[in-house]
Amino acid sequence: MTDRPKLIAGNWKMNGTAAALAEIAAMADAARDLPGHVTVAVCPPATLIDRARAAAGDGPLVIGAQDVHAAADGAFTGCVSAAMLNDAGARLVIVGHSERRADCHETDADIRAKAEAVQAAGMTAIVCVGETAAQRDAGTTLTVIGGQLDGSLPASAAGLAVAYEPVWAIGSGLTPTIAQVGGIHAAIRTNLVARYGDAGEGVSILYGGSVKPANAAELLAVADVDGALVGGASLTAADFLAIVRAA
Ligand code: 13P
Repeated sequence: MTDRPKLIAGNWKMNGTAAALAEIAAMADAARDLPGHVTVAVCPPATLIDRARAAAGDGPLVIGAQDVHAAADGAFTGCVSAAMLNDAGARLVIVGHSERRADCHETDADIRAKAEAVQAAGMTAIVCVGETAAQRDAGTTLTVIGGQLDGSLPASAAGLAVAYEPVWAIGSGLTPTIAQVGGIHAAIRTNLVARYGDAGEGVSILYGGSVKPANAAELLAVADVDGALVGGASLTAADFLAIVRAA
């Protein structure tokens, strides 16, 4: 098994204005003192990316984005390209979050195109997958995730991470059991190695869904859990750094 570093990424969703930049600055300060195996990233709304980059200074805090358009440019009112995000200071982009799959009707093919656009711009794509409560209850979790991986993963493993986020765990305070997380991450790893060969061993698989300071250490200790994608608990430096320090 490859010795993969840990990536702890915050997804601010549609939260944050200039007043929140102090949290980014505090996260950036703390990121300077972290052990080398931990990378910390924050994905604020697109409107804050360049100011977040400035607030983070020259330290190792990575600034990311939450979505991207797959095209390089053109008549796409309201959309932002990978090169624009990179220009603003982003170095990674979340694609295919379940909120965008559901609310914005994004398909696996859309997500694959977005991931490849992110990679082509020299950034890392975090491709999200995960089952709904109904799919879990129907016993189709691994089938659903397998289909999402088949449809939405890019051709190359370079500049790629996968986030397993059970839809029912997001914002609910619920999480799968440690054994369930381990089983699903192992299945994702098998899929990645079948798809990419040895390079599949190097792809980080993050867990997301109600990661909090209280449960981060046990989740991050699971084999093939190479980090976390954190929503609500990433909005304040105090909570987010407590999770980061558990990595
Ligand atoms: P919560 O951590 O708020 O459950 O959100 C998880 C998530 O959707 C991160 O992308």
